[in-house]
Amino acid sequence: MREIVLKTPSCDSVIYCGAGAFDEYAPSVAGEQLFVVTDTNVYELYEKLIKKTFGEKIFVLEAGEESKNPENLLKILRAMLDGGMRRNCRVIAFGGGVVGDIAGLAASLYMRGVRLTQVPTTLLAQVDSSVGGKTAVDMGGVKNILGAFYQPEKVVCDPRFLDTLPEREIKCGLGEIVKYGALDGNIYSKLMDNAGNLAARSFLEDIIYDCVAYKAEVVKKDERDLSGARKALNLGHTTGHAFELYYGGKSHGECVLIGAYYELYIARKYGICGGYYADNLEKLILGVLKAKPVCADADKAAQIAVHDKKNDDENISLIVPEREGVCREIKIGLTEYKTLLAECARAAGGGK
Ligand code: NAD
Ligand code: GLY
Repeated sequence: MREIVLKTPSCDSVIYCGAGAFDEYAPSVAGEQLFVVTDTNVYELYEKLIKKTFGEKIFVLEAGEESKNPENLLKILRAMLDGGMRRNCRVIAFGGGVVGDIAGLAASLYMRGVRLTQVPTTLLAQVDSSVGGKTAVDMGGVKNILGAFYQPEKVVCDPRFLDTLPEREIKCGLGEIVKYGALDGNIYSKLMDNAGNLAARSFLEDIIYDCVAYKAEVVKKDERDLSGARKALNLGHTTGHAFELYYGGKSHGECVLIGAYYELYIARKYGICGGYYADNLEKLILGVLKAKPVCADADKAAQIAVHDKKNDDENISLIVPEREGVCREIKIGLTEYKTLLAECARAAGGGK
């Protein structure tokens, strides 16, 4: 197990990464007042472990993105109040990114903030959502529109939880890992070296640490997403979030990858990214997606992207790959964006 300390102005967040992380962490919360948030799937698999380690105060959300809403946030807060949670209690977010985001927001609000531990149980949550303090719920069809920056005091990234993860969720986590590959030369090289075997456990254990270490460095520089450094972590996300809402049933990580595919197309069109590098990146993306991502109504997807928080005025903001380890932000008008999405959709074999 390895440890990363993410120092930010608000808090030192300690991240334990690797096999054995959970067992090493668990004894440290003995005697604390704990409140667990999890979801139905995770609870079914880990009820015994949760109860043995953290006790009986548990809020179980219905699994799925639809649960990340203000109504459930209030229900969690109400359950904390009814459960007699005090100022020095600790919220344990035990689950994937949905649980982490809503439980993190609840921890930030209850009594103006109580301690938070993230125990991410999906690959996506281990490499991304549990680290860095972004918490949120969705509202009115807009993703993450209500939220707060609230650093977890501890994050416990233990690969043991990946053993029960469906293949689809591994693919979803790989989506965010490929995103890191477009941002960081070291991660890119490892992805290229292991391209045929990205889901292998030994590879994942190693790459989880690299992704977390990379993200921690970015968040250290720009905790509140103000200077632009953290914005880069949104590669693939503007279009990806739109597809997430457009498709309905697809997972976040998969949509990020679909977003990265469309945004790479745009970067190529603008002459920002090309040659072997663009070809390799496309192969990496398609290697995980398994098929070119089709979109029947690119206009609709583009219209959804307008609501992304990164946009200003009429322009769509995208983080696009340039060359190995280098990305940049571009802003394009909505009409141009719609045209390019539709073009890419047609090239992928769908669209009008
Ligand atoms: P998720 O939380 O919905 O989990 C995916 C599925 O896996 C669910 O069905 C869940 O029940 C199941 N699951 C979780 N752990 C399991 C395990 N160990 N074994 C078997 N099944 C398990 O989705 P996710 O992909 O983890 O997270 C997506 C969410 O994260 C989105 O809401 C997204 O907006 C958010 N996100 C947040 C950040 C951030 O910085 N806060 C970053 C990226 C994504
Ligand atoms: N997942 C993007 C961020 O944490 O900033």
